[in-house]
Order: sequence, then structure tokens, then C-alpha cells
Amino acid sequence: MFLEVKGLTKSFDGTQVLKGIDFTLEKGQVLSVIGSSGSGKTTLLRCINSLETADAGEILVGGNKIFDAQDAGAGRGIPREARLSFGLVFQSFHLFPQYTALENITLAPTLRIRTLCRKRRLSRAARDELLQKATEKALELLSKVGLSDKRDFYPCQLSGGQQQRVSIARALALNPDVLCFDEPTSALDPEITGEVLKIIKELAAEDMTMIIVTHEMTFARDVSDKILFMDGGVIAAQGSPEEIFGSHENTRLQTFLTSFYSNQAGAEPV
Ligand SMILES: Nc1ncnc2c1ncn2[C@@H]1O[C@H](COP(=O)(O)OP(=O)(O)O)[C@@H](O)[C@H]1O
Ligand SMILES: [Mg+2]
Repeated sequence: MFLEVKGLTKSFDGTQVLKGIDFTLEKGQVLSVIGSSGSGKTTLLRCINSLETADAGEILVGGNKIFDAQDAGAGRGIPREARLSFGLVFQSFHLFPQYTALENITLAPTLRIRTLCRKRRLSRAARDELLQKATEKALELLSKVGLSDKRDFYPCQLSGGQQQRVSIARALALNPDVLCFDEPTSALDPEITGEVLKIIKELAAEDMTMIIVTHEMTFARDVSDKILFMDGGVIAAQGSPEEIFGSHENTRLQTFLTSFYSNQAGAEPV
């Protein structure tokens, strides 16, 4: 197993919002996480991405333990490399408004290179070569998300769909082992969700390992190898898209899907 999440729990102010999450994912697989609002989906992604520290549990990538709540509890921090295993694309883009599209993508790699060069006392020429490579890679990524012509645009000059594509490129620039998305299209107008979903589909075809929290059920069904249904901080069902969207015994899942589809049929926002 490439990714193993074992027994993750997390409480806020005495309320447990993750109640023991266990799942695994093979390299190159796509996992979609569905479930109603408040079921703990974002908290799960934030714990996996080290933006929150889980109270209990472990995370392994490629057999290496990159998080152990016992170590974190004992004050032994999460190694920097662990955080770099994952990338996260946020619902509301979170681009830096004062930087251009290209600069948003090169910012983190540039900081990483500068730190590395200082630590290893590399020459200025070696550093400049690495920085040049980072810029070339960022330009490739901009082209991959179809935004080569927008490299010098600021986020406020880009549509929501374009901003989200820049943030996907930004996450990819750090070469994550697992790329996570938290409702990547829910802040977008329906007519432009497709341009973002298309990029995610292309990444899936390239065997990028991904965890996608989404309300796009048709998309989840198409793109996923595995689906988790979260309900009240637990994984209430997991399985293949056929198992989850086909006939099933789980009444909580049935209720969720039925109310989801009936909302969609009406003109109500979901
Ligand atoms: N930083 C926080 N402080 C306190 N409560 C939080 C925090 N983050 C999330 N919660 C609570 O945890 C529960 C799960 O939230 P969340 O993970 O955002 O769910 P989802 O993404 O499925 O909507 C909710 O009840 C939410 O209010
Ligand atoms: Mg959420």
C-alpha cells in the first residue's frame, strides 16, 4: 500500500470530529471523499496535510511513517519532508494576491531552493541554475493547465476557474506524492467547473495519486478507484464507485445520495 491512514482521531474543543479514520490507497489511485457538510472531510484532509495535528493515529507513505500522533504529542514535530509528501488545493484557491500566476507557482520552490543552497553552501551559480529550472518547470505547469498566456496576470485578473488551475499548478510544483483537493469546484460557477475537472481527470490519467473531496457525484464516479462516504466523523461506507453508487444496504449513504440527487434535480444549490 502506498498510503496508509490508521486510526486518525481529532477533536476540537472537546468535540470529536474524526472518530478513527482508516483507509489505504495504492500509488496512482484516485480516492474521492463524499459526505454531507460537517462530516469531517476538510478536517481529514487538513490532518493528512499537517495543517492540523491529529490526536491519535498514524500516516504512512510508501511504508515510511510520516506522522505518528504519539510523537507529535510528545513534542517531536512532523518532519518537513512529511509535509512535502502532500499537496492541497483549497476550495477558495488561496493564491497570493500580490504575486502573478507564475510567481505564485515559483514561490514555494524558490524558498525551498534558497534554504537548501544556504544549508549546503552551494555557489551562487548553482543556486541560479536551480532557480532557473524551477521557473522552467512552473512554465511547463502553466502550459499543462492551459494558462501559458496568463503567466504575468495577478489573481484578481483571472476568473475563478483560472485561479483554481493556477493553484493546481502551484501544488504540482512541489512534486507531491499525493495531491489532495478540498471541493475544488464548489466556489466556481457551474459552467466553469468543467475546466477544472478536466485538469484533474488528466492528472488521474497520468497516474497521479489523489484524494478528492467533492460534491460532483458524476465526476467522482468517473474518475475514482475508490470512494469514502463520511458521516459524523466516521467512514460510514467505502468501496468502488459501483459499490457506492450502485444498490447498497447502507441507509445513511442512501439518504445522503437521495437528498443530494433531489437537490440537484430542483434548482437548489448543493
Ligand atoms: N478549527 C476548528 N475549530 C473548531 N471546530 C472545527 C474546526 N474545524 C472544523 N470544526 C468542526 O468540525 C466538524 C467537521 O468540519 P469539517 O471537517 O469542516 O467538515 P466538512 O468538510 O465535511 O464539511 C464541524 O462540526 C466543524 O464545525
Ligand atoms: Mg469541508
